[in-house]
Amino acid sequence: MTSAVVTPITAPEGSKIDFGATISGVDVENLTDADFDVIRSALFNHQVIIFKNQSHVSPKAQFELTQHFDPSAGNSYGHGKTVDAKRSILHPDLKTIPHQPQVQVIGNGFIPSYEGLSNIQLRHPHHRTFHSTVIPEADDLDYTRFYRWHIDAALYGLAPPVVTTLLAVKVPSGRRQTCRYDDGTGDELDVPLGTTAFSSGYATFDQLSPSDQEFCKTTKVEYAPHPYIWMSGAKSRPDGLGMVSEGKEIPLHHLPPIEQDKIQILPLCWKNPLTGKLALQVHPSAVRKLHLADGSIVEDLAEVREIIHRLQRPGIRPELVYAHDWEEGDLVLFHNRGVLHSVVGAFAEDEVRLFRQCNVAASQFPEGPGAAVAGAAAA
Ligand SMILES: [Fe+2]
Repeated sequence: MTSAVVTPITAPEGSKIDFGATISGVDVENLTDADFDVIRSALFNHQVIIFKNQSHVSPKAQFELTQHFDPSAGNSYGHGKTVDAKRSILHPDLKTIPHQPQVQVIGNGFIPSYEGLSNIQLRHPHHRTFHSTVIPEADDLDYTRFYRWHIDAALYGLAPPVVTTLLAVKVPSGRRQTCRYDDGTGDELDVPLGTTAFSSGYATFDQLSPSDQEFCKTTKVEYAPHPYIWMSGAKSRPDGLGMVSEGKEIPLHHLPPIEQDKIQILPLCWKNPLTGKLALQVHPSAVRKLHLADGSIVEDLAEVREIIHRLQRPGIRPELVYAHDWEEGDLVLFHNRGVLHSVVGAFAEDEVRLFRQCNVAASQFPEGPGAAVAGAAAA
């Protein structure tokens, strides 16, 4: 039995988003099998699912909901244990819950005590630490940027998690900001403070020209080894959608030892396991090479990035972005293989925010457009 009710999001005026839904009538702490069947179907149809009033949900229940999407996955957090944490760009953003290590605490400000962690200082990622250009200090309260559009995935060794869950435990009271693309288009988007922005890989794929769709269906992307260390010297484009090419990546011989069989070559398009639809799913900051249908390889990093950016940029147009307006108790479950997402916003030091994030490295690699299932492959 279930009393779960799925209600698709009503797109705000001027928006063309066709994804996202709320599910009411369920308690994530006490899910039945019938509840989960509804949730699974809704997730693969709507990509982003919002449950309200879930403040009471334990880290264990959050992990169990997350892992339920891939029961044969192991117990490893999606990024595993970060090798060389000091150099990884992911290091400052996450604190692990000691008794549930797949669940990470993220946010902003000082937290005296939470779930076995004490005296933790959280820092909401700010684009000034990652982008090639920055919004001037004087405008920083009113204007912001997409920090980094991404898929939650190690992209080296471990398979990309199927889903991620985010629980808003503490949310500072809402002001709004204007998110600027700063890429010469004049595009901007009015967003709630500290929103998480989502864009649909399906919408991105659907609006490509037939020849670009064919290119995406037949091309594979090779990710850098130890990608979050590799990219740590480089800077992002102002729209948060991939890096600028200035030769600042860490040379491969300065990375931790590289195991060739952990390097990932994945399809550009990932097939939805329920609908069969194709999403253009690329982590734009971590791409290194493209493997084309004719067997040739595009190795020029600037060219690879230009190609990927041209394909992905239309998918993050303001009218195609869903910017979630967080309230305490919101639990958002998203299809990590069907959407890109980005942190947004700039908090003041005293704006305390506490979130829990969970994902699990998957048991299988995502399926591409063809019959073959992609996996790790040696370069
Ligand atoms: Fe993320």
